[in-house]
Amino acid sequence: MQNFNNFLDKKMIEHLRKKGIHIDPNSVEQDRDKRMHDADLKATRAYMKNNRNIIFNNSLFGNGEDINKCFDDFNVTDDKQNSELEQVISITKRIENGEKHKFIFYGKPGTGKTMLAISLLNKLKDKYSCLFVDIARFIELTKNFNDERAKLQVNSLYKAMRNVDVLVIDDLGSESSMQRSASEASTYNQRILFNIAQSRDDKTTIITTNNTGAELKRIYNPKLVSKLMYTASNNVISFNSSDYRLLKN
Ligand SMILES: Nc1ncnc2c1ncn2[C@@H]1O[C@H](COP(=O)(O)OP(=O)(O)OP(=O)(O)O)[C@@H](O)[C@H]1O
Ligand SMILES: [Mg+2]
Repeated sequence: MQNFNNFLDKKMIEHLRKKGIHIDPNSVEQDRDKRMHDADLKATRAYMKNNRNIIFNNSLFGNGEDINKCFDDFNVTDDKQNSELEQVISITKRIENGEKHKFIFYGKPGTGKTMLAISLLNKLKDKYSCLFVDIARFIELTKNFNDERAKLQVNSLYKAMRNVDVLVIDDLGSESSMQRSASEASTYNQRILFNIAQSRDDKTTIITTNNTGAELKRIYNPKLVSKLMYTASNNVISFNSSDYRLLKN
């Protein structure tokens, strides 16, 4: 192909020379190399963007979350909501600029933690690989031992949870309420979470939860909580606004 292109280039240069137009063959070659390089780069970028979209679209949601939510959908009716939105936007910009941390969205139900976490991913998903996982659904899925499709989904989610640039673990602590025995999460759940935490030291993880750190340390092994959540105070957002679910009714 390269030789054929060279042949065409030479024919064209000769043809133009006869018409009085003189072209340096070296510059033609450089131009062609650059065009090919640019085309390769464009194809690679498109391929990676497509891969990132596939990963994000395989996110695991709970009930009724909307994968397309974005910051513009978030209504601001008071100062608290405004501050919560601003803090999440600021964290999004920090991640966009290359910062990698653990971030905690903590607070009461219905205050928009999940919605804003999804909005953050939608803002970043073209640049970084992003995944949203409702942790209770994930743990539930891992228990479908006899379902081959569920097993495949668990394996691919588990791999993605360890590797993506930005992971949202939604509603941490909620899955413990599904245990038969009291409030402590099963060793099984904890081992899964520990393996995920272990792989994410140099990546960004956002955790949403209704539980305080002390509560989570009662639910999980404190070592796991520390591994998963220990972070600087400016990486924690407290959500105190009113329950939007109640406001809507
Ligand atoms: N400020 C807002 N503007 C528009 N919709 C909102 C706003 N806050 C919350 N909602 C909507 O209200 C519902 C509850 O919000 P969301 O699930 O994000 O709350 P949450 O803090 O994650 O609650 P939980 O702690 O129970 O998981 C969702 O349908 C969400 O889209
Ligand atoms: Mg939520």
